[in-house]
Amino acid sequence: MSQLTQQRAHEIIQSMGERKIVILGDVMLDEFVWGDVTRISPEAPVPVVDIRRESIHLGGAANVLANAVALGAQTCVIGVVGNDVAGERLRKRLEAASPLQKDEYLIVDGERPSTTKTRIIAHSQLVVRADRELRTPVNGSVEERIIASLKQTVQDADALVVSDYDKGVVTPHILEEILSLAYERMPVLIDPKIRNFPHYHPASLITPNHHEALRMTNLDEDSDEGLHRAARLIRERLRCDAVLITRGDRGIMLVEGDGDPVFVGTTAREVYDVTGAGDTVIATLATALSAGATMLEAATLANHAAGVVVGKVGTATIGSAELLATFAFDS
Ligand SMILES: Nc1ncnc2c1ncn2[C@@H]1O[C@H](COP(=O)(O)OP(=O)(O)OP(=O)(O)O)[C@@H](O)[C@H]1O
Ligand SMILES: [Mg+2]
Repeated sequence: MSQLTQQRAHEIIQSMGERKIVILGDVMLDEFVWGDVTRISPEAPVPVVDIRRESIHLGGAANVLANAVALGAQTCVIGVVGNDVAGERLRKRLEAASPLQKDEYLIVDGERPSTTKTRIIAHSQLVVRADRELRTPVNGSVEERIIASLKQTVQDADALVVSDYDKGVVTPHILEEILSLAYERMPVLIDPKIRNFPHYHPASLITPNHHEALRMTNLDEDSDEGLHRAARLIRERLRCDAVLITRGDRGIMLVEGDGDPVFVGTTAREVYDVTGAGDTVIATLATALSAGATMLEAATLANHAAGVVVGKVGTATIGSAELLATFAFDS
């Protein structure tokens, strides 16, 4: 049974369009190279791919932006790119995707490449993935520019999202400078990685997947009880308002305050591509919370949104009408 009637889902989804979401995080470019294999290379026992076409997608924190935009939110992302072609492609795509995205929000760091994941696909099958990235934390002057952009953009924002992929953009210093400031005025949501774990404070909601939640707490039991224990420990350490653990095909678990956990099963009908599901979850949570949803309402919407996105090939976003349609038969 759903925790949300169609009427209430409609109310929340309608208000999403007037909200502004600021995202801080590791932006990435997903490159896809599509082709056919008809022979094995004479140089080594590897397939030779005849390239037919190429496409690019926004990844990481940039995919959080794409998901928030698809839901109708006003949004921008603050992050870092290298002085390279991939960085320029990211900048153009982001500015085309969202009118709020400004040039200076993507800071060029000449010491690193733009994080790029290149996938070569032949006959619908992934042949190889090649990554360009440097995971060292950004240097002091880049940090200061990130902080300045954040301070300016959160002034009139309705939610702040930290999309940490451990590629060096999210540092303890930036978190310290910005989280308290934002938390006083708006929901602060964190999609975490292990390295910065002690520094995600203060926050409204932290959304690790089950593996991350267990690693953060040195636990290993991936059961309802085990994850509840992990969520309690995370809350104790970070003193955040709520913890939402995503559990892949088992949906999500939400723990608010000292309350009992709420388990919401996945609504996915078909599963093709689960990459980016976490981005859909945090983007939907942020837009829903900023639109006045309760934590449980936002979690239910996010679970519905992720359930649709994992059934899509290629595009990893869901529009507001499509999200609303998932509630059509529930009330
Ligand atoms: N195999 C699946 N079957 C059904 N639903 C799924 C599946 N994988 C993911 N989902 C949905 O997507 C949500 C988020 O997925 P998951 O727990 O894999 O996040 P994640 O590991 O952070 O993903 P990401 O790769 O984007 O970081 C789940 O809570 C669920 O609603
Ligand atoms: Mg994730």
